[in-house]
Amino acid sequence: MVAQTQSREPGTPRHVAVIMDGNGRWAARRALPRHLGHRAGVKAVRATVEGCARRGVEALTLFAFSSENWGRPAEEVSKLMQLFVEAMEREVDELSRNGIRLRFIGDLSKLQPHLRDGVVDAEARTAGNDRMTVNVAMSYGGRWDIVGATRKLASAVAAGTLLPEAIDEASLARELALGDTPDPDLFIRTGGEQRISNFLLWNLAYRELNFCDCLWPDFNDAELERAFHHFAGRQRRFGLTTSQAFVV
Ligand code: IPE
Ligand code: IPE
Ligand code: MG
Repeated sequence: MVAQTQSREPGTPRHVAVIMDGNGRWAARRALPRHLGHRAGVKAVRATVEGCARRGVEALTLFAFSSENWGRPAEEVSKLMQLFVEAMEREVDELSRNGIRLRFIGDLSKLQPHLRDGVVDAEARTAGNDRMTVNVAMSYGGRWDIVGATRKLASAVAAGTLLPEAIDEASLARELALGDTPDPDLFIRTGGEQRISNFLLWNLAYRELNFCDCLWPDFNDAELERAFHHFAGRQRRFGLTTSQAFVV
């Protein structure tokens, strides 16, 4: 599926993070049950993975299921979990052939054993690939992530291997689920809502936000191109003035 990687154009984000929202509304507009909206969203996932890999993106983080999504009706949750199992069984070989490494972040202890086994297997089968890493955030919450990192630091303090005064932003960031990955440069949310919904709270502190009205199953390469174009035109000042940030 994935065509050759073009050389990375200047202004191309290295790490793209996506909240794939709007599946339920896509289905409702067609008088279909919500789970068929989730199913229709798989095509957009393929297009996004392919489009990012082709443009030379190094990491793509997809929000597939949030900590809060466990509170949805049991039937929707179970249909989604079933879809994750099926999609992994169907897609992993193709992804691997295209040099994609798959990694899952989130509270995976909440997943059913069958799905957890699939996750472990998919990670193992793609571990040696280095064209692009796709991080699938599943049972993930930004607050869960920060609490987990804090707990690891607290354990080190309790064990006497870390001084409280030595804790700084870098040491906490290293303990996050994406502690080994530079923060996303570009964030895309489909579905029209302009909020973070407990996604990568720490990692998105200074990131470009791009909200798209299209519903996730309708997202395609043209929409991705639009988001990349928007990103390339942004001035990232990181709290400084324009003249400070753009000294050449
Ligand atoms: C996003 O689509 C998919 C998940 C949260 C799993 P939604 O299911 O939230 O779709 P809308 O927002 O209700 O349209
Ligand atoms: C965010 O979408 C989670 C995912 C896309 C996985 P939601 O639909 O759950 O977020 P809210 O409810 O609009 O904040
Ligand atoms: Mg939603």
